[in-house]
Amino acid sequence: MSEQQLFKVTIDNITIEVPAGTTILNAARQIGGEVAPPAMCYYSKLAGSGGKCRTCLVEVSKGSEKDPRPMPKLVASCRTTVMDGMEVKNITSEKVVDARAGVVEFLLLNHPLDCPICDQAGECHLQDLSYEHGKEGTRYEFQRRTFKKHDIGPYIQLHMTRCILCYRCVFTADQLTSKREHGVLDRGDHAEIATFIEKSLDNEFIGNVIDVCPVGALTDKTFRFKNRVWFLKPVEAHRDCPTCSGKVTLWNRGDEVYRVTARKDQWGEVEEWICNTCRFEKKQTSDWVIEGPRLVDRHSVISQGHYAGSVGMHKPAETFAAVNDGRSPKLMMDIHDVSKVNRNEITLSLINGPAHSTNFNSTKD
Ligand code: SF4
Ligand code: FES
Repeated sequence: MSEQQLFKVTIDNITIEVPAGTTILNAARQIGGEVAPPAMCYYSKLAGSGGKCRTCLVEVSKGSEKDPRPMPKLVASCRTTVMDGMEVKNITSEKVVDARAGVVEFLLLNHPLDCPICDQAGECHLQDLSYEHGKEGTRYEFQRRTFKKHDIGPYIQLHMTRCILCYRCVFTADQLTSKREHGVLDRGDHAEIATFIEKSLDNEFIGNVIDVCPVGALTDKTFRFKNRVWFLKPVEAHRDCPTCSGKVTLWNRGDEVYRVTARKDQWGEVEEWICNTCRFEKKQTSDWVIEGPRLVDRHSVISQGHYAGSVGMHKPAETFAAVNDGRSPKLMMDIHDVSKVNRNEITLSLINGPAHSTNFNSTKD
């Protein structure tokens, strides 16, 4: 059998060899770092994904060795395969950076800027992308799209106004579950994720749509409004699960398990799909065998408060008391013996479903 053909491709002045048929995006991921374009809709584990969001645009300044003409327009790197001798510009192209900023602004056109109350804040790819491109504000003056609310069951909250129609959740339901019950209904400006007849999504693997959603359109009802992700400590844990691999990330605060998610790789993609039982029903530390802290990108807001917990990091010396007349830094560090946030008799992580205002201490107290 002949050996697989290798193509030489240069991305942002770095040359690598990849098998024929590799997309520019995947070639760039092999180089890694900033050279890899952002991807809001492509998902390597979902067949057919990509080509929807346009955040992965790149400039092809040389088509190939045989035909060196540049491609006339920017191309979606997740859908364009490399050619031998191709030269690509990602962050080294002003055109790309400018176009990407425009794409982000378009994605934010109808997206509510409600990060302060969105459960996805701190781990939202759109939030990161908008800040990276200086597009966290808005120039849009018209009324944003609104949708009729759809209840899609006890576990998953759909916030259609935040959806960017990346189709990842549709592919997930198609490829992971035996029956897809939701999809994109209508077209153009009216397109929305919904079920045709009000239905709950209750397949055993449907919880994975929460993990693949790049924004806060699909969130975990059992975690809703209970904590900010950057206050939680991600740890790797596993259990003997008859349905899935049982390998998860627990999001803990103290001894409490607030949320269970799949483990995600450096591209924000799920490493192994997990079942609903692991995700929604196992919220006791005793349900799990804890392996150790989950390595979090140090640029992520999630790693900011976790000096001691983050792998390879050392807790800096605490100087607050010394410079503040010996007063303890508890309030500043948000560490309390007794919670001042939620009512003492309530364990937020164990509430069945979302937390409500009645679960928290009122400001009058
Ligand atoms: S709900 Fe999330 S995953 Fe589904 S299409 Fe919208 S943005 Fe994509
Ligand atoms: S990631 Fe390529 S178009 Fe969305």
